[in-house]
Amino acid sequence: MPDNEEIVTLLGQSLRLRPLRAGDRALLEDLCGRTESHDLQMRFFNGFRSLPPSLLDELMRIDPDQRITLVALGAASSGQPDILAVARAHASADGTAELALLVRSDLKGIGLGSLLLERLIARCRSRGLRVLAADVLQNNTRMLRLAERYGFRREPGELGITHLVLDLDSLAVWRPVTKYDGAANGSPRR
Ligand SMILES: CC(C)(COP(=O)(O)OP(=O)(O)OC[C@H]1O[C@@H](n2cnc3c(N)ncnc32)[C@H](O)[C@@H]1OP(=O)(O)O)[C@@H](O)C(=O)NCCC(=O)NCCS
Repeated sequence: MPDNEEIVTLLGQSLRLRPLRAGDRALLEDLCGRTESHDLQMRFFNGFRSLPPSLLDELMRIDPDQRITLVALGAASSGQPDILAVARAHASADGTAELALLVRSDLKGIGLGSLLLERLIARCRSRGLRVLAADVLQNNTRMLRLAERYGFRREPGELGITHLVLDLDSLAVWRPVTKYDGAANGSPRR
């Protein structure tokens, strides 16, 4: 398996975590198509019925130097992979990165967001990024709680928005806090 890929077990199911690839467009479109308008609103601040192609183009822009984009893949009943969730951090030259997460609506609340956030934080730290930040709607309690568990602090944002900030270089000993059942490749459960 390539270095940047990983198999983990979540609630007894095997998932593959890997960076987004150029061939993932249809899978990403399918994920967004299966995500409720409310959740698209939380992610994009716009309750699209379907994602505009230009936005999909932007999300599919692969730029390994500036974008860390992780997908969680599971096997659909057809045997083909499905993207279940996506996490991304878009880095700027000043060492800060903008975080965004999207978990398929029917899979929220089982640990996917925590799992991807944990892995994203680890990758950002290993890249030497200093700050991970996100603008989150003030009524997005699920994301605000998730971020709080990972040590993000809240700062006032624009109207209706909370700005979340995590100082990556001050986390001297950072410990993951997820509930998922750990890696499937023989690593101990955490
Ligand atoms: C916000 C979001 C990313 C969170 O992801 P998620 O997968 O639902 O989050 P998790 O399942 O890891 O955690 C959510 C809750 O489930 C709980 N949980 C996690 N794993 C669990 C498990 N195996 N069993 C029971 N509960 C579990 C967590 O403790 C957490 O509880 P809390 O909210 O009381 O703290 C997701 O809901 C989402 O995509 N929302 C729409 C888009 C969005 O808001 N994006 C964020 C903007 S950047």
